[in-house]
Amino acid sequence: MDNQKQFKLLQGQNRQLNQDILVRSFNWDFSNVPRYYLGNNVLRTSMFNGLSSIFPDGEKFFIRSVKYFANEIKDTKLQEEIKLFIAQEVQHGKAHEKFNHFLEEQGYEIEGFVGLFKKISFDILEKLIVEIFGHKMTLSITSAMEHYTAVWANNSFTSTITEDFSPTMKELVYWHSLEEIEHKHVSFDVLKEVDDDYLLRISGMLMGTFALYGLLVVGTTSFLLQEKNYSFFSFLKDMGKVISNRNSIIRVGIRGFLSYFKPDFHPSDIDDRGIAKDRTSLLFRAV
Ligand SMILES: [Fe+2]
Ligand SMILES: [Fe+2]
Repeated sequence: MDNQKQFKLLQGQNRQLNQDILVRSFNWDFSNVPRYYLGNNVLRTSMFNGLSSIFPDGEKFFIRSVKYFANEIKDTKLQEEIKLFIAQEVQHGKAHEKFNHFLEEQGYEIEGFVGLFKKISFDILEKLIVEIFGHKMTLSITSAMEHYTAVWANNSFTSTITEDFSPTMKELVYWHSLEEIEHKHVSFDVLKEVDDDYLLRISGMLMGTFALYGLLVVGTTSFLLQEKNYSFFSFLKDMGKVISNRNSIIRVGIRGFLSYFKPDFHPSDIDDRGIAKDRTSLLFRAV
């Protein structure tokens, strides 16, 4: 029991403890996290840092795009799930914001990249997409991004990749992954109810993928450029290892991307709730 964390189940947001989507908060303390917390590796840690730094604003975008259609949803179960999806994403945003502050305390400069990301993604692109394609397209992009987080979450439970994280970061990954799996169908089902068009779903995936991998490259680079002792040779060597690992974020992402094109695809086709709950019950205890 000693190594178990006490996750607080937020009152008022969880009506029953046996519901499928549970909102948990935790008072994170990142002070014991080492600088290279992922496999003691500069590149892998920088890739995670790059993603983490865009999570808080990215998750706000997911919430916005789903919330826009919340009143149009007739299915009462889905209405309830939308509220829980939003509540979980709010907690994820807070946790990653706290982690991003920890990165700044370690001396990393992240505001340059995050500021640019917010300006281009939300002040320019989001407005342009809504103007040209309507709000359905932002919902479709969110559905695609939620698919990426779901396949990465699945990978964190079904491969040994999470073992490479330092203890606190492992808990963060497990907690976020569990909740991504719990709500992975929500934005997809909202999109399906709003507009079931295959082309709309796929267009959102293509636009979202372009943005996501672009941000991953720029975000990772912005952290790597701050590593004065990291040589280009080490980068090439580490990149080779990332690409050759079938469970790396890139290769899992590619498999997830392809699976989304199946016309009858649904996020719940893969039932990974059991493994997610089993794995996290070893670490967490809800109170
Ligand atoms: Fe999330
Ligand atoms: Fe999510």
